Amino acid sequence: MTHESASIDFMRREVCAFIESLAASYSESLHLRYSLDRKQSDNGRNIDDRIIRAIYHDMMESRRARERSDEAFDSKYGVDTGGAFVLNDASVVGPNKSNGLRYMASDPSIFEAALASISIPHEEFTFLDLGSGKGRVLLLAAAHPFRRIIGVEFASDLHDVAKSNLARIAESGAQINRFELVLGDATQFVMPLDPLVIYLFHSFESDVMLTVIRNILSSHAEKERPIFMIYANPVLETLWTRSGFKIVSRGRLFSLMSLESK
Ligand SMILES: C[S@@+](CC[C@H](N)C(=O)[O-])C[C@H]1O[C@@H](n2cnc3c(N)ncnc32)[C@H](O)[C@@H]1O
Repeated sequence: MTHESASIDFMRREVCAFIESLAASYSESLHLRYSLDRKQSDNGRNIDDRIIRAIYHDMMESRRARERSDEAFDSKYGVDTGGAFVLNDASVVGPNKSNGLRYMASDPSIFEAALASISIPHEEFTFLDLGSGKGRVLLLAAAHPFRRIIGVEFASDLHDVAKSNLARIAESGAQINRFELVLGDATQFVMPLDPLVIYLFHSFESDVMLTVIRNILSSHAEKERPIFMIYANPVLETLWTRSGFKIVSRGRLFSLMSLESK
């Protein structure tokens, strides 16, 4: 195999994995932008080399932009939330390591846009991030007057980084008594009975997602209250809508859903 064909094969694999990891709406716009049809991207071998190069180039550009924005966020707040972290060698609590997706922090602009689309008295709500990683979203949530801010993360290295991030912002004078960092599996977390804003940045595969959905539904059946669900990169949105969650709105790379009262 020549160097040239090895490198295009590499790009093809990366591009196919990238397309697969995207929520339907985003993948749709990628298809339109590059005039791809479904068959081509289902079987990456059929995508023209020039298009593979163009998508790969854009993908690398957006990866670099994410690195720059990670750096900007972390240096602004004096914390460590950036980078990517794969779970292969990670020490993880609970049985769901193989269903977990890698760590990458949310883009603050997506988080803010999603939260801005919910009009609620924040002080009555608990904010919960399922798969909270290094805690970036919890730090962002702290700019809003939520009653409590809870993060659940099953990878102990990431949980430890989140704890040091909290310690760092406390040293700079921030109040951290609203925060709770839980080292645990999202499927085993008992939902607080408060009104909830739950955040999820496509953290796990469908089996785990379904268990989490069932837990939220049974918690809602136990105590009816407003529950909003912000799902960033909503690859498995249909699992939620088929289970009774209603779409409130959709934005760039997120869906906002809610549970209706009976
Ligand atoms: C894409 S990251 C999102 C991090 C953070 N929520 C954010 O938006 O910045 C997904 C996180 O979910 C965690 N995760 C995956 N499966 C999990 C599970 N079953 N229970 C708890 N955390 C999980 C991963 O370790 C990773 O930190």
